[in-house]
Amino acid sequence: MKIPTTPTDRAKYAAAKAALDLVQPGMRLGIGTGSTAAWFVELLGARVANGLGVVCVPTSSTTAAQASKLSIPQITLDEAGWLNLTVDGADEFDADLNLIKGGGGALLQEMIVATASDRMVVISDDSKEVAQLGAFALPVEVVRFGWETSQTLVARLIAAMGYKNVKIARRMKNGAAFVTDEGHYILDLHLGAITDARGLSTALNRIPGVVETGLFIDIAHAVLVGYADGRIREIGANGEGPERHVEVPQ
Ligand code: A5P
Repeated sequence: MKIPTTPTDRAKYAAAKAALDLVQPGMRLGIGTGSTAAWFVELLGARVANGLGVVCVPTSSTTAAQASKLSIPQITLDEAGWLNLTVDGADEFDADLNLIKGGGGALLQEMIVATASDRMVVISDDSKEVAQLGAFALPVEVVRFGWETSQTLVARLIAAMGYKNVKIARRMKNGAAFVTDEGHYILDLHLGAITDARGLSTALNRIPGVVETGLFIDIAHAVLVGYADGRIREIGANGEGPERHVEVPQ
């Protein structure tokens, strides 16, 4: 079992551990992608090794590989049909539980899985909490065919919506274009501040070639914010609940 060594990792671990309390035997779970979700998968693997019976739908090939190593039973979303709970990280979240996701490039599967769940719970350290979404570049997944045309249409749309001097960059990895698990490219939109997340999401999704955006609107049910000392804040649809603590290895 891995142990968190930095304050940020301890905060992510704390949030992941708090989310583990939501898991009940027999559940069908969606398991997210990224460094915070990886702590959840790690902790879940330890519970499974101790006899917890759950089945999981991973949101990326990376998470599937981690779950396989930990012998966590996996099924496809089509086999599951519907999920009880999805636990995933985020790149930004606001007080209305709206998110930017996709920093790890798994936004499409993450959105499909989260949407097919009774409950989607975000786990995060407090660095992701923002008053307004948009400082984190918004990922927009586009099909490879005609991607430059899609990029031009995206640029025109955001200019027409009043965003100025927006840099749009096709995501790269190791000197080559980053390709998602579904075989698409990602355009990162450096918007600075998103004034109408819902309207922007709807408009971007209408552009031919755009598959999905990293704006998760009305999808998350709660955010568990972890701190290095084990403190947990839970933000739900009705605001913030009482603080609690979980044990974090120091
Ligand atoms: C993966 O595509 C993303 O949506 C991640 O969930 C998000 O980037 C959070 O990742 P970290 O937990 O690594 O910050």
